[in-house]
Amino acid sequence: MSLFSNQLENYLDKHYTAESGLLKNLESETFQKTTQPQMLSGGYQGRLLSLISKITKPKNILEIGMFTGYSTLCLAEGLAPDGKIITIDRNEELLYLVKKYFEQSDYSNQIEIKIGNALDVMDQLDLSEFDLFFIDADKSNYINYYEKIVKAAKPGAVILADNVLWYGKVLEETRANDKDTAILKEFNETISKDDRVEMLILPIRDGISLIRKL
Ligand SMILES: C[S@@+](CC[C@H](N)C(=O)[O-])C[C@H]1O[C@@H](n2cnc3c(N)ncnc32)[C@H](O)[C@@H]1O
Repeated sequence: MSLFSNQLENYLDKHYTAESGLLKNLESETFQKTTQPQMLSGGYQGRLLSLISKITKPKNILEIGMFTGYSTLCLAEGLAPDGKIITIDRNEELLYLVKKYFEQSDYSNQIEIKIGNALDVMDQLDLSEFDLFFIDADKSNYINYYEKIVKAAKPGAVILADNVLWYGKVLEETRANDKDTAILKEFNETISKDDRVEMLILPIRDGISLIRKL
């Protein structure tokens, strides 16, 4: 189920500031070389990530779920000159592709890749150092990622979580066999009642939660 009409999607796709040629090439190579290219953020959502990053001007960003590094490069666009983005993924197989694009970007010295299970990697980091977080890995751990972050993050830190509307499936009353839908419903319920943060869901693409630690 698409949240927007095709007409609106086409209109939105025609009216945003274009992404770089490097990002366009990374998107097309991701579609040629990977089996689940739809996981990539893409042009419109990528511009949103870039704008949020530019508005928040983070010194340190943590991304959970790198895939081919498309969203990493979008988020890096807003980094302070001496800032850094750490991006985590458990899959090593796409590193050849990721590194090729990171090296061609303006941010190669500001990106640190960490390969491993995200929860384990997060335990080795000081989460209070990050100003912006992007949660975009396995849905089953969304609440675990969120809890770790919200406990440690400093006031004002911004947390983005992707896919929270799950193609509109969270709107359905019951979906007994769909574990991810149940998890995301619970995730949205929990965070909307969490008095440690303020939040709303942007109904963009697959839904992005925009959360700010109080
Ligand atoms: C939706 S993709 C990320 C897309 C990317 N953020 C973008 O917008 O282009 C999710 C990624 O999370 C990774 N992932 C899933 N579970 C993980 C885990 N427990 N630890 C680390 N990475 C994980 C997958 O390997 C996959 O590359």
